[in-house]
Amino acid sequence: MASMTIRELEPVADAGQFADLLLATHPWTVTNAADWLHRRRAIPERARLFSRVAVADDRIVGAVEAGLNFFGSGDVASLRVWVRPEHRNRGVGSALYELGLEHVRSLGARQATAMFQESGPGVSFATRRGWTEARAETLSLLDPRAVIEEPDPAVDVRPARELDPHELHRIDEETTRDMPALEQVSEIDYDEWCDFVWDSPLFARDGSFGAVVDGRVASISLLFASKELGRGMNMFTGTSREHRGRGLALAVKLATTAWAAENGIAQIVTMNDETNAPMLAVNRRLGYVPCGRRVEYALDL
Ligand SMILES: CC(C)(COP(=O)(O)OP(=O)(O)OC[C@H]1O[C@@H](n2cnc3c(N)ncnc32)[C@H](O)[C@@H]1OP(=O)(O)O)[C@@H](O)C(=O)NCCC(=O)NCCS
Repeated sequence: MASMTIRELEPVADAGQFADLLLATHPWTVTNAADWLHRRRAIPERARLFSRVAVADDRIVGAVEAGLNFFGSGDVASLRVWVRPEHRNRGVGSALYELGLEHVRSLGARQATAMFQESGPGVSFATRRGWTEARAETLSLLDPRAVIEEPDPAVDVRPARELDPHELHRIDEETTRDMPALEQVSEIDYDEWCDFVWDSPLFARDGSFGAVVDGRVASISLLFASKELGRGMNMFTGTSREHRGRGLALAVKLATTAWAAENGIAQIVTMNDETNAPMLAVNRRLGYVPCGRRVEYALDL
């Protein structure tokens, strides 16, 4: 094998190759160089993010990122390692992991977590290093062109572009707290939310929707989409507590799928905690097909 070196990430110069690495390791990913760079820059200082890339023949073949979960208490760190499929089983992942773990240990967090799509090699890599499964999500795919259910005309559904982003943020923050997770989100700062969602290059302002009840947004479904890739990702769906169980999540998701079908998107991915019965029920009704598990492993520090 050509010699492999590990160096610091250079976000601007590496953006295209880093996005390619993500697409190669998780083929349902929705990203590109501009989107990746925008989101990377949105990560706040308090995350104390550490990034290294493995390079062979001038090409990024792997990467590690580690830092504190910045919407949480600062008690939990996350660690992620990616290696291109054709460069696996040569020690690249182990070398990157060791560097990331060293950084994680320096952060003073109580626990480290790592999310990845479940696979035999991935699970044995993690368990051999002392990690255990803490929770899991169902990964599901939908071809939006196959959805036949008609939207309920009684629900006032409007594209995100026509809504006040403060309202979308309010529902996102409020309902994210009700989503099953290892660590509850404490607060999502509005400006940071705009950076991560509203201003992201692949955030679909016309393909994301809110349901309005008595003049206020009650339910949202946020879609990231790349017409170039022909793929979308359902980033988040939430209905405020007092409006649940009346079909609002179904209505906003139906609107996103109809937009996607009309805009060249042939696949939408969504990931939902395996215990999130209402969200899984909505997705089943829309025709999402489960196709794997995205697991979150944890290591006590
Ligand atoms: C998931 C969530 C968005 C659903 O919103 P909603 O507006 O109440 O959803 P709807 O009324 O459109 O549909 C709810 C469906 O769940 C079903 N459901 C509700 N509770 C259920 C339960 N405990 N077990 C099984 N099914 C359940 C309902 O019967 C309905 O299905 P149906 O249309 O086939 O009858 C809402 O509960 C929420 O905001 N949760 C917190 C945030 C979250 O977890 N978001 C998902 C992130 S991936």
